[in-house]
Amino acid sequence: MKMLSSVVAYGCRYCAPLKHRFLYFTPRRPHHCSPPPLASTTVSPSCNLHNPNLFTGNSVFRGMERFWTGSGIKKSKAMVEHLQHYGVIRSKKVSEVMEAIDRALFVPEGTPPYVDSPMQIGYNATISAPHMHATCLQLLEENLKPGMHALDVGSGTGYLTACFALMVGPEGRAVGVEHIPELVASSIENIRKSAAAPLLKEGSLSVHVGDGRLGWPECAPYDAIHVGAAAPEIPPALIEQLKPGGRMVIPVGNMFQYLKVVDKNPDGSVSVRDETSVRYVPLTSQEAQLRGY
Ligand SMILES: C[S@@+](CC[C@H](N)C(=O)[O-])C[C@H]1O[C@@H](n2cnc3c(N)ncnc32)[C@H](O)[C@@H]1O
Repeated sequence: MKMLSSVVAYGCRYCAPLKHRFLYFTPRRPHHCSPPPLASTTVSPSCNLHNPNLFTGNSVFRGMERFWTGSGIKKSKAMVEHLQHYGVIRSKKVSEVMEAIDRALFVPEGTPPYVDSPMQIGYNATISAPHMHATCLQLLEENLKPGMHALDVGSGTGYLTACFALMVGPEGRAVGVEHIPELVASSIENIRKSAAAPLLKEGSLSVHVGDGRLGWPECAPYDAIHVGAAAPEIPPALIEQLKPGGRMVIPVGNMFQYLKVVDKNPDGSVSVRDETSVRYVPLTSQEAQLRGY
């Protein structure tokens, strides 16, 4: 057993450090690329659960994490029920979709799929925590109605792209853009095993290799845009590709990041508000990401 003073987790709500907090862990499964660099001692997000044996201080999801740790729940349904219990999931549609797309198909082998934490997926990337996926689905729900167009920038494992595809259905369009080709290939394999497989086959769901800062103009304009990595500022191309009446959810910032909700009004003007503080990997170039940012 070892004690850590500071750790960075990505793809989760940022929770301020507690003065006396001990993180216990057991040795981690090795992964084929190095994790993001450890932060200085000034940063210590508490929602870093690479391992279900971690105890995480002041997270509002602490109760849920303890529950999972203790009982080893292995089902999407139980994960969803707990996100509902904590008020993260509030709608029937979001709960149905998160139950239907089994997270276990999207995390690397040996990774606990239902623990409320981001997990390493290689290439200095993570799959975001279930509470962040749920938060973003809730925020975008009205823009993910059947027939609508959705863009998932930094689609990683493909989990959220698959959720979007189920929500917009065969008449809609769900597009993932990810700049690591290997992640695109594995995300397509993941989706093929999931409830979204028919949509991939029929072509209303697709995942592409590309620089997500440029969006994916071919299927624009979008009713919903999700960005899964933190941008220094909102990329202009993404605002351009948002439909009037459309909504984008994007983490913005470097050390301090906020999940921003960007609404394009019917007259084309844009309103931006902060939803919550978060911690995500950066939206950056492929080279910067592979060398560790
Ligand atoms: C926190 S991960 C989230 C992945 C996805 N939402 C999930 O949960 O599986 C962020 C992803 O953004 C990707 N990314 C970072 N910068 C990018 C860029 N400029 N263009 C496309 N993808 C990018 C990373 O490779 C990584 O897969």
